Formats: sequence, structure tokens, C-alpha cells
Amino acid sequence: MHAVAIVAAAGSGSRLGAGLPKALVPLAGRPLVAWSVEALRAGGVAEIVVAVPAAQREAFAVALPGVRLVDGGASRTGSVRACLDAATAQADVVLVHDAARPLTPPELVRRVLSALGDGHPAVVPVLPVVDTTVTVDDAGVITDAPPRAALRRVQTPQGFARAVLSAAYADLPPDADLTDDATVVRAAGVPVLTVPGDERAAKVTVPHDLVLAEATVRTTGERASQGAPATEERNEPGVEPMSQVAR
Ligand code: C5P
Repeated sequence: MHAVAIVAAAGSGSRLGAGLPKALVPLAGRPLVAWSVEALRAGGVAEIVVAVPAAQREAFAVALPGVRLVDGGASRTGSVRACLDAATAQADVVLVHDAARPLTPPELVRRVLSALGDGHPAVVPVLPVVDTTVTVDDAGVITDAPPRAALRRVQTPQGFARAVLSAAYADLPPDADLTDDATVVRAAGVPVLTVPGDERAAKVTVPHDLVLAEATVRTTGERASQGAPATEERNEPGVEPMSQVAR
């Protein structure tokens, strides 16, 4: 199995308010995207392609020496599409990962790869929803509260048979703007398997997320991104044991 990882790093990160692309925001002195690339490598992925904002290509080249960079699109979907077009022909599976998930443990990467190796065409990591989750109308009034037990939070890396993902992207309109890739293949009728996600793969979106990530690095060192023995079966604060994470 030859895996290529696509890292979506071309977002502006305006919700983080850091004044630079979110992927370049430092966590413990290193850009978020460098952590994410390292997690993929530690999980066993040799080929990595990163979508970056065209205007900041130089800064990304400094942050990611030797890593293949492509100009991202106006949306995440456009950025993934550009990387997919640039991936080498011999890749038979593709992982798509957000640059904004710096502390993704390598074992999560391996879990997704393993399910792909078992023959599943599409695999996404998920976590249970702990808050009651509602839909609202334009006035902010609740319109529905779907039963929580069936809801999941979807993370990355998401894994796909390359042919399946490429065909699903080929079917999308050029201006499609979807928030993840499971949505892209589901639109093409492909069944998507879920595997247990990991709280450490949380996405950095707002300033408080960065505070949490800094605290995690301080308390656990760099183990999460370097493939050292898993901490997941221990009951550490903020780390949900995998045995308790439902699909
Ligand atoms: O905005 P959000 O946090 O959902 O973005 C998820 C990921 O998609 C981020 O890592 C971001 O850099 C990436 N992205 C991208 N190209 C865009 C917009 C977002 O690669 N045009």
C-alpha cells in the first residue's frame, strides 16, 4: 500500500486572529503545519503534499524544508483538489489531514491506514458528541435537537482509496466548498467507515484551542507527535482512553 498524505494548510485562520496563516502559527516554537506533517510521517506516511496560500509560499518552504508544496484554492475543497492532482501516480491510498490538528497522535494515522488496508474505501476518525447539539433558524431560535447518541464529531486524517477520492472529486462542481472529504465521497454514494478518533487530534480554530495545545505540549512533551509509546490507555487528564471512545 503506497499512501500519500494531503495536508490542507491554505486557510487564512481569521478566527484565530493571529495575523498570519493559521498553519504558520507557532505551537511551542514550531508552526502548526510542521507538527501535523511530523505526525503523518511518524504514522508511516512517506509522501506528503501540502496546500499553502500562494502568497506565503516562501514562509511555508522555510517551515517545511523538503516538503512538496502546491498553491491552495479559495476553499478547503479547492486546496485538496489541487494536492490530489499533484500526488504521484503510484499512490493507491490518500490521507487528507488538516494542518490545524498539530497534536494528532501517530497511532490515529496508523488506525486509519489499517482500515484502508482491510479494504474499506473511505475511513474517518470520529468522537462522540458530549453536548446536546441543536439546529437554529436565522433568528437564533432552536428548530431541532437531533438525538445525541447518534451524533459524532468528525476529525482528520480521513483516508480513501485513491481511485475513489479522485472519482468523487471529478464529480464535484468546480466551485464546490465542503468542510471535509467524507462529505465528498458520500455525495458519490461511497460508504464511509468510522474508526475511533482521538481528543489530541483536536482542531486549533480559536485562541483558546491554542492555549489548550500549548498546555498539552507542556504536560506530555512531544510524545504525541513523535510516535512514542501511546498514552491513550492511561487516564490522563484531557486524554480520553480509546477503550472508552465509541464509534
Ligand atoms: O477553516 P477550517 O479550520 O475548517 O479549515 C480546515 C483546514 O483547511 C485548515 O487546516 C485550513 O488551513 C485548510 N484550508 C485550506 N484551504 C482553504 C481554506 C482552508 O487548505 N482555502
